[in-house]
Order: sequence, then C-alpha cells, then structure tokens
Amino acid sequence: MAQDTISVKDNSTGIEAELPLLRAELGTATADIGTFHKKLGLFTYDPGFVSTASCKSAITYIDGENGILLYRGYPIEQLAKESTFLEVAYLLMNGELPVKNELAVFTDEINHHAMLHEALRTFFDGFHYDAHPMAMMVGVVGSLSAFYHSELNMNDPEHRRISAMRMLAKMPTIAAACHRHSVGWPFVYPRLDLEYCENFMNMMFSLPAQKFIDQNHYIDPVAIKALNLLFILHADHEQNASTSTVRLASSTGANPYACIAAGIGALWGPAHGGANEAVLSMLAEIGTADRIPMFIEKAKDKNDPFRLMGFGHRVYKNFDPRATIIRETCYEVLDKLPNKDDPLFELALALEEYALKDEYFIEKKLYPNVDFYSGIIYKALNIPVDMFTVMFVIARTAGWVSHWLEMMAEPSHRIGRPRQLYTGSGKRDYISAKER
Ligand code: ACO
Repeated sequence: MAQDTISVKDNSTGIEAELPLLRAELGTATADIGTFHKKLGLFTYDPGFVSTASCKSAITYIDGENGILLYRGYPIEQLAKESTFLEVAYLLMNGELPVKNELAVFTDEINHHAMLHEALRTFFDGFHYDAHPMAMMVGVVGSLSAFYHSELNMNDPEHRRISAMRMLAKMPTIAAACHRHSVGWPFVYPRLDLEYCENFMNMMFSLPAQKFIDQNHYIDPVAIKALNLLFILHADHEQNASTSTVRLASSTGANPYACIAAGIGALWGPAHGGANEAVLSMLAEIGTADRIPMFIEKAKDKNDPFRLMGFGHRVYKNFDPRATIIRETCYEVLDKLPNKDDPLFELALALEEYALKDEYFIEKKLYPNVDFYSGIIYKALNIPVDMFTVMFVIARTAGWVSHWLEMMAEPSHRIGRPRQLYTGSGKRDYISAKER
C-alpha cells in the first residue's frame, strides 16, 4: 500500500514538499517533518510542543478530548481498581502484566535494591534542616551515579535494567530520608517484609522507640490502598514536561541518575508536579468558601499572575480521568481515616463547583486535574505538604525509567537538538570598552 503523505507549499517561493504521514496505533496521525528543512529550507516553529510529537512510544496513550488514559493499553480506571503500584511499574517497564512468579521476582529485586549506600547518609548532612525536600531529591538522586558506577555501560541492556530497578527501589528510601532530615529524625532502613507503600510509610514515620508497622502496629489498609492508587495514577503520562526532560537529557548518553535528577527538577515547577503543593497553599490562602468568588476573579484577571492551581491541562480538554478517580477516593479515604472532617476538602469541592459554572473556565475548557485532589489525600495520610511533589517523584520514577529504557533500546535514537527562530541583533563589530 502506498505511503500516506501530506503536501506542504511555501507560498513565498512556490516550493512544494511531500512528507510522510505516520499512522498511530490509536489517536492522531503525525506528519514526519524530519526532511522539512532539507526539502523546503525551513524550520518548523512550535513553542511548548503544542503540535509536535517528539518520539514514538508504546508505553502510554492519552485521548485528551475523551478523558482516556491507557498504560500499555490498559485503562487507568481498571488498573486503579485492580492493581498495585509495583505491578503497574512492571507493566510500564516490561510491556505486559506480570504472571505471579514474575511479580514475585520483581518485588524481591526491588526490595533488595531499596537500601542506600551508607556513605549517602553523610551527603544529607550538607543540607540545612529547612531545605525543601525536592531540593534534596534533585541533589541526592543526581549523586547516585557516584555511588553506583559499576553498572553504567549504557550499551548493555542488563546494566540499563539494573539502573532502572535501582532508581525505582531507592526512591522511597531517599524520599523518606529527605523528610527525616528536615525533622531531625534518624533514617530508617527499608524492610524486606513490607510491601512497597508500607515500606515507605514505615520509613517516613517509624520512631527509634516505636515501629510504625509491626505485629502490634498495623497501618490502616485504607491508607496503603490510597497510596498505591495515587502512585498508580501518577506513574506515567506519556511525553509530559519531566519525561521529555529525562528523554532529552538521556539523548546525550548521560548517566540515568543524572537524567532522572533533571526530570525531578522539571517536575518541581508549579505548572507540573509542584501543583499538588501549590493547591494546598492556595486552599489555605482562600481559607473560607465566601472568599472563592474573589479568587476566581483573580484567576481570570490577565494582569494578575494568580492561576487556579490544579485546574487546566495541556492535553485533557473535557476531564482528567485521574481527577475523577481521586475525587471519588477522597470520599472513601476521608471517611475511613481519623482526620476525616478536613475543611479543605469541603472548600475544594466548593471551589470546583464554582469554577465549573464560570463562563471563563467553561470556555477555556479548564477542569480539575490530577493534582487538585491528590494533596487532600496525602494530607489525610499525614504526609507533610512540602513532601507532596516528592510523592509524585516516587510514582513518576516508574514512567521515567520506562521511557528511558524504551529510548535507550532504540538503535536509531539521536541526540535531541531543537532549532530556533533567531530574534537577536544582526551581525555587528565588537566595540572596545572605552569606546562604548
Ligand atoms: N487558572 C486560570 N486560567 C488558566 C489556568 C488556570 N489554572 N490554566 C489555563 N488558564 C488559561 C490561560 O490563562 C490561557 O488563557 P488565554 O487563552 O486567555 O491566554 C488559557 O487558559 C490556556 O492556558 P495555557 O497556559 O495556554 O495552557 P497550557 O496548556 O499551556 O498550560 C497548564 C496547561 C500549565 C496545566 C495550565 O493550565 C496551568 O498553569 N494550570 C495550573 C497549574 C497546574 O495545575 N498544573 C498541573 C498540571 S497536571 C500535572 O502536571 C500533573
């Protein structure tokens, strides 16, 4: 069958070019513009990558108009209901759901990689007690290449797999250590007998004098279920800003720990993963329902930088399926956990209701995204607000390493090197300092 193509004409010169049209397994077809410059002598301009596919990927599919999110073909609603975070991480990394034995081996390996090199502990001493945990995450994850340099031959698939497993396994340990450093508590070692999320909660909250989870102190299964669910919902989201950052950094052949640290830095921004922390700060600032109209007006005012945090999404234009799931879970979790009467949840519901009736939000298709409600659940689980984006890091590591593995396995991957539309000064001669 003949290849589908599109034709492009430069109306100023009359030069025409025919470009291949690549059909997606699902969703929008993509014009292959790789030869655009060669054929037309032009670049394409798309700040923010609104219409640009940066790679081929078989991991995650999003249909933004219809609120569909699939991991390796499986709907997010089914995974959220039936699966666990580690099973989903296996699925993202390997392409298929594991059979029982495969999951057992995977879990065992994660457990055995969860410890940190003892020398890493002293690394934390360099941070002030009030350092933001995300600042510590960027630094500590970036430093892992200095501790685990024995398996860094990126041309060896087994080295790549081990590096990916290490990052997934160590992220909760590093995250909990960041929190404990800030509160001045001794670090807690990971335990082999605990499930991934249980282990994280134990490393966060155990005291030297009292274990958080043992035969006498069981953590509420509702909390562990909620944590697994949040991690599943945050595990991957195709070519989002942080994943694209990981891919771009990796395209240079840099070591994976440095690339994931770059991704953590990108996730930190309030337009991306930092939104969950920003939502809680915003709700605290709004304070009471009678102040909602004032803040909605601020969000609509083009001269005011305030935006409704947790609202809007580049891809979802009707609803974010993750937000729908989390909203339902909020009711369940808040109802079963001790601190259930959280006024912030009531305020968030009132804010959502008000915004969704406002013409500005309707016209611009701005709906609550995944992070509008996630912070409320984290708060109910006693996770400190400045750790919210760190929680996102733990979950998204599954996606980042999956994309990294996918990209590094492609023999034809090239360094990512965008072009630009130059708007600076024309060529001019240097003027010596005394003549300026
Ligand atoms: N509050 C008020 N107005 C908004 C908001 C908001 N939260 N989001 C978008 N708008 C407006 C913009 O001002 C713009 O208006 P204009 O057309 O009159 O200029 C229009 O809606 C389109 O917004 P863009 O910023 O162009 O959309 P973009 O796709 O570039 O940005 C983003 C998406 C970053 C998520 C944006 O909606 C936003 O800043 N939201 C708040 C932060 C947030 O919740 N981020 C988390 C995203 S989910 C995640 O990363 C896990």
